[in-house]
Amino acid sequence: MTTRVILDTDPGIDDSLAILLATASPEVELAGVTVTSGNCPMADGVRNARNVLALAGRPDVPVCGGVALPLIRPLYTAPETHGETGIGFAYLPESTAPVSTEHGVDLIIREILEHPGEVTLVAVAPLTNVAIALRKEPRIINAVRQVIIMGGALRTDGNTTSVAEFNFFVDPHAAHIVLESGMPITLLPWDVTKDIILTQANVDQLIRTPSPVTRFIADATRFYIEFHMAAFGYAGCSINDPAALALAFMPDLARTEPMHVAVEYTSELTAGKSVISYIGPATREPDAHDLTGYDTAAWPPHWRRAFRPAPNVRTVVEFDSQRFIALFVERMERLARQ
Ligand code: RIB
Ligand code: CA
Repeated sequence: MTTRVILDTDPGIDDSLAILLATASPEVELAGVTVTSGNCPMADGVRNARNVLALAGRPDVPVCGGVALPLIRPLYTAPETHGETGIGFAYLPESTAPVSTEHGVDLIIREILEHPGEVTLVAVAPLTNVAIALRKEPRIINAVRQVIIMGGALRTDGNTTSVAEFNFFVDPHAAHIVLESGMPITLLPWDVTKDIILTQANVDQLIRTPSPVTRFIADATRFYIEFHMAAFGYAGCSINDPAALALAFMPDLARTEPMHVAVEYTSELTAGKSVISYIGPATREPDAHDLTGYDTAAWPPHWRRAFRPAPNVRTVVEFDSQRFIALFVERMERLARQ
């Protein structure tokens, strides 16, 4: 049983690793890669996505640029984290695949409406494309199977400002629109992904399988690990986006809890900050995304403090990093041997 996936990206080193994992996972039918600006400007991201797919032997997967600028805020990119090209020290030959002419927002809408109840949208970038898709075609709200979002710093410091995670910081207005949309959202926050570390030892193991794939991973992550060492003091790198992709076909990696997550978008000081209304351990495990059962009137008084909206997401609160890293390394080795 495969899962049809659209991957919305800002590639970016960890986005590129998510693309590789998608192509190396038989459980995933990668319907398309859409791109916005974030880690690097969208044009660089489109080129990187095309070239990574060619590297993985999948030049057939469409790569579509979407909306190149955040809805309101000026663009903020992360060359210090992902390098000037967006893929660190790596170099890739230019893909010869035909250039897709479909707009990324239209690919998201078309795929979801053409395959109602089947498409999982994995959003690992600023949410600009997803927000515009919602505004252009609200029918995707009930047609999408699941939305998995990597974003937010809920109960930990941000990785971009002291309060905000990068994807929510770059486009907080888009994050607000998406989180309040009513789509069935699973949120994988920086709280969890900061501890999903690909170590130098993992990379050293990978390059023992000589291949352009492992060479790319080594060169891209060398830049990324140097950044993490300088910024966070450890010889490894958080592979946020591959972890989000893995939840599309291996949801048992995570334990989730329903909660309401709001995003600050009016304040210059705290733009992109996530504000949660923590519901507490689920009193019953709702089916999939049946959050309507959480009737706030039934809550105990101490739950109904000043701001207690009904849950809008299921947030990952635990993640089996060890099992995931082993899966990632094994699948990269398998891809390298193809
Ligand atoms: O905060 C980490 C997220 O922001 C990741 O998706 C990374 O690629 C950047 O987009
Ligand atoms: Ca990303």
